[in-house]
Formats: sequence, structure tokens, C-alpha cells
Amino acid sequence: MTPQPRSRPRATVAPAPHAPAPSDGLSPRDYQRVSALIRDAIGLQLGPDKRITVEGRLRKRARTLGLPGLREYCRHLLDEGGLAGEMAGLIDALTTNKTDFFREADHFDLLRRRIVPDLLSHRRGARPKLKVWSAAASTGAEAYTVAMVLADMVSQGASFDFAVLGTDVSGEVLETARLGVYPAEFLAPTPQPLRRFLMTARSPRMRGKLRIAPELRARTRFAELNLMDARYPVDDDVDVAFLRNVLIYFNRDDQMAVIRKVLAHLRPGGYLLLGHAETMVGGFAARAVAPAVFQKELHP
Ligand SMILES: C[S@@+](CC[C@H](N)C(=O)[O-])C[C@H]1O[C@@H](n2cnc3c(N)ncnc32)[C@H](O)[C@@H]1O
Repeated sequence: MTPQPRSRPRATVAPAPHAPAPSDGLSPRDYQRVSALIRDAIGLQLGPDKRITVEGRLRKRARTLGLPGLREYCRHLLDEGGLAGEMAGLIDALTTNKTDFFREADHFDLLRRRIVPDLLSHRRGARPKLKVWSAAASTGAEAYTVAMVLADMVSQGASFDFAVLGTDVSGEVLETARLGVYPAEFLAPTPQPLRRFLMTARSPRMRGKLRIAPELRARTRFAELNLMDARYPVDDDVDVAFLRNVLIYFNRDDQMAVIRKVLAHLRPGGYLLLGHAETMVGGFAARAVAPAVFQKELHP
């Protein structure tokens, strides 16, 4: 027998914009104030479709702070001077930190086969140092994926040294990144030959987890950086910048401004990689060389 869909209660009347919030929800005014606050701070656009997610995440923050509900949380944040102390918690709560090892894997093939050989062909010296920046690093999967690919190339005889910088606006994800310990399932996309860079975590607390090998962690550094800031405290001779799956949260003006600022930190001929969902962004001074991959002019 074909299962019949269960009938769901249907909302018949949309709430008027001035209607009071249900006792456990955000009022339209508070939602608008929180959205404006987070947009100004980190560029994150929270449309009306994000309301349920935002409410869920802020409810957790309220519980952490020992507040009974969202109304009290907003009062604390917006009316009683709690913002300064809560900003980091708010950012941690509202950013989406989804990431994976070897996410959009074609980019790492391109790094190995085309980008690194091209960069090395323009560098002098027996062992040039390549600098890679993961500019929205989340918990570090992207930065360590790069480190694994580069370390593997070196172990196969390529002559270069490298340093990877991972930055993010959320302090919470950076703590995980610095530790470099992940559940084994999360590391499952790592190809077999590169699994030699993963160590079994020793302490009993870490059962079922793996740790990035010390020689890779030694070449990978993490720091807090807000892409909305006017200036970035990053070297201006970066060879490759990964700026993937973060622009989608920004408006068009902010997307362009961030791309220009990141490009300014690339050396001529350096590469910028966006997320595959971010190729709608265009009109900046770099040449498209592959899907979502751009090269800064060699002779600007
Ligand atoms: C979806 S994750 C992408 C992670 C990784 N780049 C990837 O593609 O797997 C987006 C990250 O961007 C960070 N982020 C959001 N707004 C930011 C900002 N203004 N400055 C720096 N990082 C930001 C978030 O904290 C989050 O960790």
C-alpha cells in the first residue's frame, strides 16, 4: 500500500510585520537589528529565509550565557551593553563553517599539476618558498589539504619549501584548526598515498580521531582575520590564495572589495581560487585559467 502523506497543519495567515514575536522567537525588529549588526561586522547577509537557523543558533548562545530565551539575549546584546563581550560568541554562532578535506578536489589536482609547476618555473633559487593562504579556513581542512599535497610533491622530488596560512573570523574554528585533530570519518576523502601524513591520536580521549602529522603542522599557521577589515596583516607575496565558499555570504560590493584586497596580497603571476559556486563573481584584474581559478597578471 502506498503510504499516505500525513496532513500538516497549514499556516493560513502570514504574521503582520509589526506582530509581536512568538514567545520563543525573535521579533521582526530584533531580527533586523541582529542582521544589521552581523552584516556590518563580518559582511554576512542574513535574509528572511535564515530566521529559523538564526533563532536556533542564538537560542544556544542564550543557554550558554544562562539567559532564559531569545528576548533576553537580544536585550542583553542590543540594549544592555552586552555586545562587546558577546561579539565573538555571536560570530562563532552565526558563521557557517562547513568544510571538508579535498573539497572541490579538482582544485588540488590543478595545484599539483599546473599551479605549482608554473609558479616554480618563474622562481629563482634552488629551493624557493611557496606561500599559500586559506583565507576562510574554517577548521583547517583546506589548509591541511594543501599542506598534504605540497609535502607529497616535495617527497617525490620537487624542490621547494612551503608555508600555509589559514585565517578565519571565527576564533572557535581556529582552535580546532590549530589542534589539527579530526574524526577519522572527516578525513576519509584523503587519498590513500597521502594518509601517511595522518597520525593516530594517542590519548584515550582522542579515540577514533587522527592528527595531522607534526611536519605539516609546523608549516601551517592559523590566525584570526576578518575579510571586512580595510587591511589584512598578511604578506604581499602570497603565491596561491584559496578564497572558497565564503563570498557567497556577502553582497556583490563586498565580494568585489574582498577579492581586490586578497589579490593585492598575491605576487604577480599568483593564483586565486574561489569556490565553484562563486564563479558569478567577475570583473577583477585576473585571468580565468580554470573553473573558479584566476591568475594575477605576471607583468601588471
Ligand atoms: C563555509 S566555510 C568555507 C571553508 C573553506 N574555505 C572551504 O571551502 O571548505 C566559510 C568560512 O568563512 C568564514 N567567514 C565568514 N565571514 C568571514 C569574514 N568576514 N572574514 C573571514 N572569514 C569569514 C566562516 O567563519 C567560515 O569558517
